[in-house]
Amino acid sequence: MIELRNVYKTFTRKEIQIDALKGINLKVEKGDIFGVIGYSGAGKSTLIRLVNYLERPTKGQVFVAGHDLGEYNDRELRAAKKNIGMIFQHFNLLESKKVFDNVAIPLVLLKKNKAEIRKRVQELLEFVGLSDKAGSYPSELSGGQKQRVGIARALASNPSILLCDEATSALDPQTTQSILQLLKRINAEYNITVMIITHEMSVIQEICNKVAVMEEGRIIEQGSVLEVFGHPQHETTQNFVKTVIQNSLTPSVQKSIKAEHGKLLYKLNFIGKSASEPILYEMIRSSNIKVNILFANTTEIQEMTLGTVILQLNGDQAEINKALAFLKNNGVGVEEVESYVFDHSNR
Ligand SMILES: Nc1ncnc2c1ncn2[C@@H]1O[C@H](COP(=O)(O)OP(=O)(O)O)[C@@H](O)[C@H]1O
Ligand SMILES: [Mg+2]
Repeated sequence: MIELRNVYKTFTRKEIQIDALKGINLKVEKGDIFGVIGYSGAGKSTLIRLVNYLERPTKGQVFVAGHDLGEYNDRELRAAKKNIGMIFQHFNLLESKKVFDNVAIPLVLLKKNKAEIRKRVQELLEFVGLSDKAGSYPSELSGGQKQRVGIARALASNPSILLCDEATSALDPQTTQSILQLLKRINAEYNITVMIITHEMSVIQEICNKVAVMEEGRIIEQGSVLEVFGHPQHETTQNFVKTVIQNSLTPSVQKSIKAEHGKLLYKLNFIGKSASEPILYEMIRSSNIKVNILFANTTEIQEMTLGTVILQLNGDQAEINKALAFLKNNGVGVEEVESYVFDHSNR
């Protein structure tokens, strides 16, 4: 649906070159809710602005629905842009226009007739839950309501792609939730492919099925949300995951095991089915080792359960190896970690 092939973007400001994107490769499939996460300045907004050609790549290609946007003439590009809606952190509404007229803007630009516009705007306002606000001005609305207007406007031309640049970053947690649920509905009911830019891992956890992590103009890690949350490879990704899933020892447990400095601990990752079966119980029952559970946590992602358990195992090494093999055979991820690696994990 959306594909970026070896995309570079360089800005020149006051004779200084800024390489905002350095070789981006990315594929968004139809129906995805694709999240791009990174710290401020990573290049996220630049990336999403390339997808609807608000910016042109310095090098590389951007494909939308199978077409290279770089090959289009102006007329074709205008038509292609109709297929893409976008919402923003600060909503970008026209303050001097009523809600109805804000939502109607794309339809007016498409030269639809009045009756058509009225019908479509009413339909959209109903969908986003703002039928009673058609005559209000943006200044009379809450942040969440303003974003709903932004969403209605973005959907007016019946796009098949919705781009969201930090769409919930100016909202409180509860309003964020309701906007994310609305985006989920848009994806499910209208089969609209959604691309979300954010610096908040909770947004990714809540609604995305795929995620790419950006740092300094590059994608450092990407995959299914379950994969990336379950086994984050890059340190930056691990830091993002930590903001939503506690997966390390609490300070007091850390202190108590410091006496055994350097001793191996085992971090187990349970995903999906392995999280709902009594595998740990079976392991303990069938082996002759002492099992000390130092930490356990479960989180839900993509309607799947992700569990993390940190164990200290005492006993004969051959028995321990047998127990670990049993876990692996039952789909549990097993990672050896030395106790001291936790020393800094709960800063
Ligand atoms: N129009 C522009 N002119 C010059 N530099 C820009 C422009 N847009 C973005 N940049 C620079 O590109 C880098 C990436 O910016 P941006 O894509 O906005 O990051 P993010 O959205 O991840 O915070 C930053 O260093 C930013 O200053
Ligand atoms: Mg940005």
